[in-house]
Amino acid sequence: MNILLLGSGGREHALAWKLAQSPRCETLWASPGNPGIDSTIVEVNARSPAGDAITSDGLCFKADLSDHRSVFEFCEMYKIGLVVIGPEAPLVDGLADTLRDAGIAVFGPGAAAARLEGSKGFTKDLCEKAGIPTAGYERVRSEAEGLAAIARFGAPVVIKADGLAAGKGVTVAMTMAEAEAAVRDIFAGRFGEAGAEAVIEEFLEGEEASYFALTDGSTILAFGSAQDHKRVGVGDTGPNTGGMGAYSPAPVLTPELERQAMTSIIAPTVKAMADAGCPYSGVLYAGLMLTTEGPKLIEYNCRFGDPECQVLMMRLEADLVDVLSACAENRLAAIEPPRFSPDTALTIVMAARGYPGTPEKGGAIHGIAAAEANGAKVFHAGTALVEGQLVANGGRVLNVTARGQSVREAQAAAYAALDKIDFESGFCRPDIGWREVDRELDRQS
Ligand code: AMP
Ligand code: GLY
Repeated sequence: MNILLLGSGGREHALAWKLAQSPRCETLWASPGNPGIDSTIVEVNARSPAGDAITSDGLCFKADLSDHRSVFEFCEMYKIGLVVIGPEAPLVDGLADTLRDAGIAVFGPGAAAARLEGSKGFTKDLCEKAGIPTAGYERVRSEAEGLAAIARFGAPVVIKADGLAAGKGVTVAMTMAEAEAAVRDIFAGRFGEAGAEAVIEEFLEGEEASYFALTDGSTILAFGSAQDHKRVGVGDTGPNTGGMGAYSPAPVLTPELERQAMTSIIAPTVKAMADAGCPYSGVLYAGLMLTTEGPKLIEYNCRFGDPECQVLMMRLEADLVDVLSACAENRLAAIEPPRFSPDTALTIVMAARGYPGTPEKGGAIHGIAAAEANGAKVFHAGTALVEGQLVANGGRVLNVTARGQSVREAQAAAYAALDKIDFESGFCRPDIGWREVDRELDRQS
């Protein structure tokens, strides 16, 4: 099968790496891709007779993903049998609909189903109607409504721009002054259209975990758990980021809590979407708060987490082409539930100095081969090749990923690999996995 992967981050490099391991993957293409994805593609296409003939056309085709027609034309030209859409923006924008309408198998939801990530208000209303446990909320459409709502909730309170805001649209306000500033910011247009509306939410207490499920709209298969580290600083302090590291599985999501999340959150969501005439197809990523009353939904994402995908792929034992194409072709009921290694995988994000503010571009990177010598894998996120030299080209630059029999072992292996990398203008958190490592140590003593 010829496969087209869309996106350019560490998540997509991990997907490319895993897709490439499938004997069913004949040729692999990506757009916009990155140097790590490029090398994966070169390896795959070199082993395919068809790929050999066409690699001279370039590795990654630089499509504007909002130009649906050009993506479709590429699929026609290269006889693409599966399109895997990595990031949320093209999903919310309806790229999957355009391709599916043209008869192409796509992994990822259409625009109506991607509203689960694209509109926080839509998701909250769906939860309320279906009795799905989540924080109490109000939808507001003006500054005055927003200020009145936060006064009713009192601090701490959470303020969210309704639409996609590149992970920056959420404020967890500990004081009324912060809450008021967040409301004013949204309605002053800070997030453009994404902030035409907002959601005011009750503050939930607990530990967070990410839970993944694959669904084709009717069948649902559990697809693992992970814990992300959203804050930039040690001990979960400082500003929010896209994620500074992750590990999988997340033992804090016990089998019993996982069962609760599946029956009280994921299954009713999939049913509600189908009943509403917009069946959800793809991966449903639930951000959960594990409260004293059980798991509650913080938010849905309509794609894999980044960097959670990297640790899931590191543990996945199933053939990813089989799994994603079965999902895209509504055949999930016919496949074996995907199995994961019982090992822990842990990934550390190396970011460029300045992140999550303006990151320093162009810092040279050396030592990736040495880092991978003992079984670790370094996924590229924001990198570029400039005159043959690998350099930083984004906020999150590399994801150094390793496995072990415990979080502590995986952590040690990942930091040992990271030590081999020479990236002077980069930094990382020194404590990825700390919550679980503390618990492992507690259990031993
Ligand atoms: P989101 O972009 O929706 O994932 O929100 C970013 C972060 O804000 C989440 O990972 C949580 O740490 C926090 N958050 C969101 N909603 C709530 C809530 N209702 N209560 C407490 N924290 C929240
Ligand atoms: N790591 C968080 C996310 O992908 O949204």
